[in-house]
Amino acid sequence: MFFPKPEVVKRAHIKNYEEVYKYSITHPEEFWADAAKELSWFKPWKQVLHWQYPYARWFVDGETNIVYNCLDRWLKNDRKNQLALLWVGQDLEVKKYTYEQLNREVCQLANALRSLGVKKGDRVTIYLPKIPEQIISMLACAKIGAIHSVVYSGFSFEALKTRIEDAQAKVIITANSYPYKNKIINSLEKTLQAIKDCPSVESVIIVNRISERVKIPEDIFSKINFYQWTELLSKQDTLCSTQIMNANDPLFILYTSGTTGKPKGVVHSHGGYMVGVYLTSKLVFDLKENDILFSTADPGWITGHSYMTYGPLLNGITTLIYESVPDYPHPGRWWEVIEKFRPTIFYTTPTAIRALIRYGEDTPSKYDLSSLRILGSVGEPINPSAWLWFYKNIGRESNLPIMDTWWQTETGMHIITPLPCVPLKPGSCFKPFFGVVADVVDENGQSVGKNKEGYLVLKTPWPAMLLDLWQNPQKYRETYFEKIKKKTKKFLYFTGDSAKIDDDGYFWIIGRNDDVIKVSGHRLGSAEIESALVANQKVAEAAVIGKPHPVKGESIKAFIILKKAIQPSEDLKKELNLNVRMFIGPIASIDEIEFVEKLPKTRSGKIMRRVLKAQELQLPVGDISTLED
Ligand code: PRX
Repeated sequence: MFFPKPEVVKRAHIKNYEEVYKYSITHPEEFWADAAKELSWFKPWKQVLHWQYPYARWFVDGETNIVYNCLDRWLKNDRKNQLALLWVGQDLEVKKYTYEQLNREVCQLANALRSLGVKKGDRVTIYLPKIPEQIISMLACAKIGAIHSVVYSGFSFEALKTRIEDAQAKVIITANSYPYKNKIINSLEKTLQAIKDCPSVESVIIVNRISERVKIPEDIFSKINFYQWTELLSKQDTLCSTQIMNANDPLFILYTSGTTGKPKGVVHSHGGYMVGVYLTSKLVFDLKENDILFSTADPGWITGHSYMTYGPLLNGITTLIYESVPDYPHPGRWWEVIEKFRPTIFYTTPTAIRALIRYGEDTPSKYDLSSLRILGSVGEPINPSAWLWFYKNIGRESNLPIMDTWWQTETGMHIITPLPCVPLKPGSCFKPFFGVVADVVDENGQSVGKNKEGYLVLKTPWPAMLLDLWQNPQKYRETYFEKIKKKTKKFLYFTGDSAKIDDDGYFWIIGRNDDVIKVSGHRLGSAEIESALVANQKVAEAAVIGKPHPVKGESIKAFIILKKAIQPSEDLKKELNLNVRMFIGPIASIDEIEFVEKLPKTRSGKIMRRVLKAQELQLPVGDISTLED
């Protein structure tokens, strides 16, 4: 156990976790209502929580807008002059926005979107690299009640197209091109390929990240209007009214991988999401007015939404965004950014930590990291040795607390997480956040007891939980509420993770128990990768599994049955890998391909990936009574 230093506890918002936790689960509605009252509402709610299987609705009939709480309310006091966004480019170019300046640009884009006919409830796809315009676009959409769908800039045009089509987006905001290490990535080209057959798209706004103006082949896109960001915004007023939203109106869709070939659109709300993200940011990172939060995420993922954009702005602090990767142009780049821009909180992933460990302890030791107060980890289990390295080399003699936060795209906010005042065990994400009851159960929903592995479930709703899956309520019900066999309609959310609880009540996450693979913390579906593989004419069947990897957490292995008369070869492996990169993006690169004659299947023809995995990892195969051969 690593105990917090007395000065950390003294300074912390929460000094006694157990006491507050006990109150929060006996009085959850009072607890969350008190948190909500720290924010501004146009109209108060009539009911804090309404649960009707399988939907939990928070702050029913309340009216607010998350952007009112992120921006508008700070304009009324001195906070307007505080830095909201501190952006650092790959070449260390700096862009600074106070709350007032950020608001001005958000208003201009919001007015521009309105002028393009975007109304409350319309979808806008944001396909931008990590630049200030990405955050400005999210806020501008939310301000006018449009639903944003941010697509990670590393996704391929196929992945972008699927997401535009599913959301039926009216407007796309994209960049011409952007630097990525020593390359220039052309995102406009990918956008144009994606929207060729997307009739919902009416307008495209282009941000010039690189100072070259691009030529649009207008003839192919005669029905779509193209605009340059700067020109479009320069014509707009810097004042814009904030749309009044119902607490349960959708704020955004964020696509994530599940067990089928198609990504799921996770929908979050203006009200509950706002309250959950506000409070977890405040208490887990122990935020105070002058804090600077450096999260290494990308707004293409949920961390970038909750703890890079909305969480910091709701708390009136500064979010520090560094455009590029940790080890370019040199392996000390993140530490250099910390020395120079002095963030107080540093939130990253186990994969990044493991990758940086390879460069040795000498690299971080050259930099002044004394501005840091709190460290954070997210996205995958952090192995104790990576935790200890982080503690020793980045936390140094100040023994900075590491917040190993467990949560998901669907939960919207931290769910199982330490607070700065609690004793830590390396590799455990501590206990549930306030108001949340979590457990580890068997397939019938019975608690498995201490130190036994089982399914991680949540037994109480929390405000930032997903509203639904976009256009797919059936999948929502099946995925989160029907996997565990039970007789009642009581709340029981299935996380898809396996875990254990130790004698002290600490949670230890083992990993996913479905066909989701976590590569470098990125969530990928086996079925998505398989459909990219079978799209190749030479492939008859494909099965994909995740394997433990010392740096990336998991790596991808594919088993392929080729069509008759096709010969396996190294070139074909390269071709297949390219197919997957085209369909999904470089994050889905396959590490190993094995050509096989047969795959283990059930009698109904479903590939049993868990049998392949057991064989590959030399683990017990488990129940194979349904195996056909
Ligand atoms: O398996 C868990 C893992 O990441 C999954 C959620 O992935 P995603 O929706 O992409 O969100 C990632 C960022 C919140 C979970 O089901 N996971 C997330 N945080 C942790 C974790 N596994 C272990 N420890 C964590 N701290």
